[in-house]
Amino acid sequence: MAKVVLIDDELTMVQMVGDLLRKEGHEVIPFSNLDSALDGIVENSPDLVITDLYLDKSGAKGLDVVKKARSLSPPPVVIVVTGFGTLDTAIDAMRAGAFDYLEKPFKVEDFRFTIRRALSFGEAVSETTFLRRQLKKKYQFTKIIGNAEKIQAVFKMLERVADTDTTILILGESGTGKELVAKALHQNSRRQHAPFIPINCSALPENLLESELFGHCRGAFTGAIADKKGLFQEADGGTIFLDEVGSMPPLLQSRLLRVLQEREIRRVGENTPIHVNVRVVAATNEPLENSIKDGGFREDLYYRLNVISIQLPSLKERKDDIPLLVSHFLRSRPSGRTGKARRVSSRVMEILNTHEWPGNVRELENAIERAATLCEGDVIRVKDLPPAILKAVGENGAALDDSGEAELPKVADTPQSLASPAGEPIRGNSGLPENVDAVKPLRIFARETESAYMNRVIDLVGGDKEQAAILLGVSLATLYRKLTEDEKLQ
Ligand SMILES: Nc1ncnc2c1ncn2[C@@H]1O[C@H](COP(=O)(O)OP(=O)(O)OP(=O)(O)O)[C@@H](O)[C@H]1O
Ligand SMILES: [Mg+2]
Repeated sequence: MAKVVLIDDELTMVQMVGDLLRKEGHEVIPFSNLDSALDGIVENSPDLVITDLYLDKSGAKGLDVVKKARSLSPPPVVIVVTGFGTLDTAIDAMRAGAFDYLEKPFKVEDFRFTIRRALSFGEAVSETTFLRRQLKKKYQFTKIIGNAEKIQAVFKMLERVADTDTTILILGESGTGKELVAKALHQNSRRQHAPFIPINCSALPENLLESELFGHCRGAFTGAIADKKGLFQEADGGTIFLDEVGSMPPLLQSRLLRVLQEREIRRVGENTPIHVNVRVVAATNEPLENSIKDGGFREDLYYRLNVISIQLPSLKERKDDIPLLVSHFLRSRPSGRTGKARRVSSRVMEILNTHEWPGNVRELENAIERAATLCEGDVIRVKDLPPAILKAVGENGAALDDSGEAELPKVADTPQSLASPAGEPIRGNSGLPENVDAVKPLRIFARETESAYMNRVIDLVGGDKEQAAILLGVSLATLYRKLTEDEKLQ
């Protein structure tokens, strides 16, 4: 059904054409005068405008309608109706953007044919506009932090599948960000304004999970005192996130399979199918293949869920992202939390890089949160780290005192510790003087050492100056100022 604005000052025409259109199932909004018609087009955003070219005896005012319609976004398709012998004006109208013209008197069949062609053209155009908009759309995965190749590959995949209705299976160890990714899929889809509903399939016994997912009707079982909507219905138009799907009991697996195949649910105690429009995203931290082999998970369901799978890397596989994640967690702490930690000491960073992170990003996030709360100044020290992590890396937090640790590298080890990954000395770092002639004013030496250090940190965080400023404990403006001064020095 299309919305059609019909403009003609001849009442019989409006009636006749209007009836024809209504018979085809379209909604008709008629106008008989130019000014109200021009406003009407803007207000109603129709799919199609049919206008007489000669709206008053003075001239081709229908052209104004064509121009107005074409200026809208998205523009409706326009058909002009001309009187006999006014082909030139019809051609002008086509030049102004009309799709086609009909010459009065026209045959009903021709009219129907032209309308159908115009409407399917309109649909095709809006499809192209949509696809074009899709291409331009900037995907937002800002909450998922990571520069490592493996996580970048995840971003690429997310961009491709986010705004589709495909079922997705997210795989990854505990704490790798599966729920974060499921939310990002939802937020970057057309479903973003409808609910995102997560449910952990391992958290409830079979009968409760069934009624949670599919709902029940009153009296379905003891205690079912009222009708209850299931989460599939609550999530209508949106996304349901089935976490730990591998733990779903067998009976529910076959029910879920039916939902995926038929897009219908049945409430417990009722046989009437209810149509649902829900995208399913599932996650598991245990490979499902093993449970398929021992009969715990249905193979056909696995294939249905696994249309597209996204494997999240463990933190151990992307240790280069640790500094980025650390500064992200420090920066995104809610302002009410205790502790003003802004950065970590270099010894702490070493420990964080050494640890194996069996609990992945969640373990890191918790460690930083704890350390930031305990930390006395604005730098997180070894003693602030969780004992379990210190134990795992063979460090004794109490015995080690890194509180005097210099924020700038010690002069003696400056040349080695600041060597760039390629091994060449870093710009501006001249090391220790070899003779009296090589001695510089302390101020210049300090400036050069600082500059080398800043550049090394910027390299470490992949060129992200904002992150570097946080790690260095200076404002972004200060960092930029110092970098500009460096350039002037050279
Ligand atoms: N790439 C990332 N960037 C920023 N934060 C992340 C990232 N990955 C995970 N997190 C954070 O780590 C915590 C754990 O993430 P999430 O709950 O999504 O993990 P999960 O894979 O679902 O874990 P589980 O299997 O234990 O349920 C969350 O607080 C999340 O915000
Ligand atoms: Mg989870």
